[in-house]
Amino acid sequence: MPPFFVIAIDGPTASGKGTLARRLARHLGFAHLDSGLLYRAVGLALLKRGQEPADKMAAVAAAQALDPSGLSDPALRSEETGKAASVVAALPEVRAALLDFQRRFAATPPGGAPGAVLDGRDIGTVVCPDANAKIFLDAGVEERAARREKELRERGAPIIEGAVLRDLQERDARDRNRAVAPLVRAGDAYVLDTTGMDAEQAFSKALAYLRSRGL
Ligand code: CDP
Repeated sequence: MPPFFVIAIDGPTASGKGTLARRLARHLGFAHLDSGLLYRAVGLALLKRGQEPADKMAAVAAAQALDPSGLSDPALRSEETGKAASVVAALPEVRAALLDFQRRFAATPPGGAPGAVLDGRDIGTVVCPDANAKIFLDAGVEERAARREKELRERGAPIIEGAVLRDLQERDARDRNRAVAPLVRAGDAYVLDTTGMDAEQAFSKALAYLRSRGL
């Protein structure tokens, strides 16, 4: 068992990982790492330089040069960046370059926090296989698309009819089928299907599970 309580939350796009992770971290006083932001930052670095996300050398160089302390660019949140992120995330060398930072975050949570919540795709399987608690968050694809559309609308981003669902299915497929660290449920993860649930219900269920894990 790690010295700090580590919570791994994995799941597909728009399954509510970020909302749940942030909420748990705030409630417990834990540090939170949105690992997707790291991949998004690599994707965005390439887009800004006019390079292709599939350009392996450029992607690996960007991942190795990444400063994880300054991830506040609003462009990180765009759908275009999310798509680029899932392309660079399929490259093993990119994943390797980002691994140490994530493991260190879990091993010594910043700010003297008593624990850490990390969310992503491979936290429970690859980054922190010894996490004290693992949640695999899921929801039906239509509902996830509706949640993402709502999020985009609230941000004032343009929405093209049907495009969000299509992009989400494409990204799910890429994340699930890649050879390295694919999106897959860890065998010892608690599966939380939030279809038809609101954020409050998901939070209560997650908390009950964490209590059962000795939190
Ligand atoms: O917020 P959303 O679910 O759309 O995506 P994200 O968590 O920000 O992740 C963006 C992309 O980064 C994903 O589609 C994955 O391809 C990749 N990612 C990953 O491969 N491993 C992680 N631990 C986190 C994200």
